[in-house]
Amino acid sequence: MSKYVINGGKKLNGDITIHGAKNSVLPLLAASILTDETIRIGNCPNLADVENMIRILSALGVQVEREGNYIEIKSGGLFAYEIPKRQAKELRSSVFLMGSILGRMKKAKVAYPGGCDIGLRPIDIHLKALSELNVKIVEKYGYINCDATRMRAANVFLDYPSVGATENIMLLAAISDGTTTVSNAAREPEIIELQKFLNTMGAKIDGAGTSCIKIEGVQKLHGTDYYAMPDRIVTGTILMAVAMCGGNVLLNGTNYTHIDSLISKLVKSGCNIAVKSDKICIQSSDRLASMGYIETGPYPGYPTDLQAPLVALASTADGTTILVENIFENRFKHIPELCKMGANIKVKDRIAFITGVKQLTGAEVVAMDLRGGAALVLAGLSAAQLTVVHDIQHIERGYEEMDKCFVALGADVIKIN
Ligand code: EPZ
Repeated sequence: MSKYVINGGKKLNGDITIHGAKNSVLPLLAASILTDETIRIGNCPNLADVENMIRILSALGVQVEREGNYIEIKSGGLFAYEIPKRQAKELRSSVFLMGSILGRMKKAKVAYPGGCDIGLRPIDIHLKALSELNVKIVEKYGYINCDATRMRAANVFLDYPSVGATENIMLLAAISDGTTTVSNAAREPEIIELQKFLNTMGAKIDGAGTSCIKIEGVQKLHGTDYYAMPDRIVTGTILMAVAMCGGNVLLNGTNYTHIDSLISKLVKSGCNIAVKSDKICIQSSDRLASMGYIETGPYPGYPTDLQAPLVALASTADGTTILVENIFENRFKHIPELCKMGANIKVKDRIAFITGVKQLTGAEVVAMDLRGGAALVLAGLSAAQLTVVHDIQHIERGYEEMDKCFVALGADVIKIN
């Protein structure tokens, strides 16, 4: 298992370009099989999750070629509609392949993706929505067998604005008869991107970014060329790294409107942040003030994916921060690791009480999940002495060459395989 060895306490200075968004490229890749014409997607990051999705598509008979950050997809040879257990487990987000496989093949057999590091990750909202669209679902031997031959457009209400369930409905209803609406839909930027992408393929979808999305089914979709949006979680993670370590960094190729919930908190805690078109400049010199009370929530609320990095940031802020994790039930596994570095954090149920200390001290810590691992790297960058972050395969699922990214800004990080 690879690890990062971090010699902390250095300021971060320089400029960096933000890579494409994992949580947008994944549904775009799923959507690509809705046509047998060629699809090209640019700004696709080199991440384990993206490579897993490519492997799953290839196993279904889809031709997928990567040239640098461009991925070309030709699914004329799509012949299978089954996602086996190992692949479904390896990549939970393969669950929204259900919608696109059903949209194209009218049948799907997907192994239950099961839980992951941060929670049980049920898919009941997905299945309820699909059944409201008259998809016949039989759950047997750990597989979900779906039959969409009699799929009917409908008005679907989501009991919770699930990102994946919203994406699944958009993917299935894009090619259908009639108009489907999704009420209480997720409003994340990645949903807007999926709408834009599908519409460049000839779909007729409207309302993404609001709680009500309208999908007017069409008979066929065609190929397209698309450039994926920047990763808002990577942007937020780097902003918090600079806030913690001090320094002056310019982030290029990003979109500040996607994370204004974080930017406002960082400014309030003492950072200087300037934004212009696709750039964010952050300067941080003194110890930050605590960010008070924060709850994670569906977009445009504070993103759960930036909860762990914020806990790391709050660990060295001046004062107490109270953070409530409303989305996933097991997303505090980075906290015991941060406490090994001298953080003063108490947890009760889904509430973390973080009392900032002047500086963390280096330690051997273990990444338990993607965003928790990123939080440990941020803690190591700002801590005195050496920090070793083990099991960084979790981090590499969502951050492209995180070590090189911070070394380019003046940090001392070595990856040891
Ligand atoms: C997406 O996951 C993201 N993943 C997650 O990012 C992100 O944390 C999450 O949205 C919330 O923003 C991708 O886009 C690939 P949900 P998703 O369905 O679609 C419950 C990362 O770190 N729920 O909105 O799975 C669920 O248990 C990852 O990049 C049900 O109960 O999120 C959770 O508590 C982690 N039943 C909440 O809803 C369902 O059928 C949010 O889930 C579906 C979800």
